Amino acid sequence: MKILIVGGGGREHAIASRIAENPDVEKIWAAPGNGGMASFCELVPLKATDVQVITAFCRDHAVDYVVVAQDDPLCLGMVDALAEIGIPAFGPDRAAARIEGSKIFAKQLMRKYGIPTARCETFDDFEAARRYVRETAPCPIVVKADGLALGKGVLICQTRDEAEEALRQMMLESKFGASGHRVVIEEFLEGLEVSVLAFTDGKTLRPMVSSMDHKRALDGDQGLNTGGMGTVAPNPFYTPEIAERTLREIMLPTVAAMQAEGCPFKGCLYFGLMLTKDGPKVIEYNCRFGDPETQVVLPLLKSDLLTVMKATTEGTLDRCPVEFADEAACCVVLASGGYPLKYTTGYPIHGLEEAAKDARIYHAGTKRAENGELVTAGGRVLGVTCVAPTLREAVAKARAAAEKITFEGRQMRRDIGQRALSAEGQA
Ligand code: AMP
Ligand code: GLY
Repeated sequence: MKILIVGGGGREHAIASRIAENPDVEKIWAAPGNGGMASFCELVPLKATDVQVITAFCRDHAVDYVVVAQDDPLCLGMVDALAEIGIPAFGPDRAAARIEGSKIFAKQLMRKYGIPTARCETFDDFEAARRYVRETAPCPIVVKADGLALGKGVLICQTRDEAEEALRQMMLESKFGASGHRVVIEEFLEGLEVSVLAFTDGKTLRPMVSSMDHKRALDGDQGLNTGGMGTVAPNPFYTPEIAERTLREIMLPTVAAMQAEGCPFKGCLYFGLMLTKDGPKVIEYNCRFGDPETQVVLPLLKSDLLTVMKATTEGTLDRCPVEFADEAACCVVLASGGYPLKYTTGYPIHGLEEAAKDARIYHAGTKRAENGELVTAGGRVLGVTCVAPTLREAVAKARAAAEKITFEGRQMRRDIGQRALSAEGQA
């Protein structure tokens, strides 16, 4: 089989490396891929969001199966465009991708089908939104841009003034482009966050091992929100009892709701959950694998990834077992200095071979310079993952391996997994 992976982050590297294990795979392209994927994939310098160009590439190169890993091409309808020319692809079609692409769609779905989530109001008129915030909204309050905003369109506001300012920036000043012209204003949920990815073919759902992201830039959950600075799996707060309740109250109802709405979801559905005192609630859905969650979840997958992916596309997931190792994984992200704000790139990366002796290194923002040297090329540069029999060992190994890799301005958190370990201590 000839496969194309659309995207170029650590998530895509983790997906590609597991797909490469399938003996039927003869070739993997990555568009655009990254410096690490280049060692076993052919990189094609195409933009992941260029649906027409990528579709034409697939037709011209007789690609057998496409994995669309990134949210924006999914929301732009890449899977639909490929289906039109008879090429199967992993990921939801455009209608189903709305579960991430429009927060208003997701909130209405949850309201209609009684899926637990934060209470909310939606607005497309600034004055109405402002009045709501001024007169009724409790604080803290969460203001969210309706559309995709690179994970940045969520503002947690401590005061009504802050909330009004957030609305002004989103709705009047287009800080997040058109994404923010419609907004969701929602109740602030308190609790612990859990990420759970699940394969679904639109009817059957197979949850993967749970994980915990570390979204803030700095140790102790300080600093700005990022795409994620590290992950552990499994998430010890997500007990079997909570998992059972989540499956019953959230996951299966979501799959059924999408089916009932005429847009069954096929692919990887990401449940961003808050474990509140009233039970698990949805913070957000994503229509794709999470990053860096994928970098701890897929190393623990025992089943063949491509087989499972094809079963989700073909609607045969009920006959396809999905098994995970009874081990733990930790991923520490190395980022460019200044991320998630301004950063500079092009710095040589050292110590990779030494670190790779004990860890899986997933590349995100890296590339080969003209002299062949591997250099930094993005905000998140590398993910360093270790798998071990216990979480404690995985955390210690990933941290030690990450320390061995250096580049100018390297930024990493040294407390990835600590909160999870404290939970284990209590258990
Ligand atoms: P999102 O982009 O939807 O993942 O939101 C980013 C982060 O904002 C989440 O991971 C949460 O930490 C936080 N967040 C979003 N919505 C809420 C909420 N209703 N209550 C508390 N925190 C939230
Ligand atoms: N790590 C969060 C996400 O992928 O959206």
